[in-house]
Amino acid sequence: MNLNLERTRELGRKDAGSQSSRLGYSSKIFDPALPPEIYSQLARNFPRTDLFADAPGYRPDGQRQHRRRLLRLKYRLGQKTLPGLVGLKDLSPGWSEFIRSLKSRRSTYRRFLEGLLGTQWFDLHFEWHRSDAGSDIPPHKDASWRRATHLFYFPDQNGWQENWGGQTVLLRGQKNEILNPEFEDFEEVTSIPFKANTSMLFLNSNDAWHGVKPVTCPEGVERKILMVTAIPYTLKVERMFLGWKKRK
Ligand SMILES: [Fe+2]
Repeated sequence: MNLNLERTRELGRKDAGSQSSRLGYSSKIFDPALPPEIYSQLARNFPRTDLFADAPGYRPDGQRQHRRRLLRLKYRLGQKTLPGLVGLKDLSPGWSEFIRSLKSRRSTYRRFLEGLLGTQWFDLHFEWHRSDAGSDIPPHKDASWRRATHLFYFPDQNGWQENWGGQTVLLRGQKNEILNPEFEDFEEVTSIPFKANTSMLFLNSNDAWHGVKPVTCPEGVERKILMVTAIPYTLKVERMFLGWKKRK
């Protein structure tokens, strides 16, 4: 599979200066997210289901666990192979090339994020989610060490009906101070369409609540996404010396 790497590297360049809608707390929709031929190749070759693992993870403050299956890309050399954790070589050539192109220090995407975050001191982490009927992500805030999260949407190629859900819901104006709120506990609810070849990036903050309501797609259909997260280098150093046991 040959992806047009140069065009992939364009991701971010045109969007950085476009009129894409801005929503709520420092969020941004990219539509389209990628050149169509690259998107279709990635959608057709979304990472195999057997690579994924059930990994609900630890949730603080009594929040309900996230119901989806997870695949993470190894973030450092020598990391053990575990269920739900893969290296670039375990992905299809197209995905591997795409991820490399986003990670590249010279990529326009990387420079776009550097401009947005105002720093070069971050690493990009990649994970994929598959959610079937009944799966949901209750309202939560991302861990404080995540600077920004970029979600790329991959609805089923046979079509995705809007009433199946899958929208990322951005929440503002919490009506109470409970730490494990429900969707109804917020004044403003903005649903980001779960639409092919679109993506949504948001900056993390103290009140960046978000979630996904239970998905109601038929059996055999899944909500699939790629999630790119910007993590400060300081955390990487901390992990190297202290191990990875503080969270999740
Ligand atoms: Fe999140």
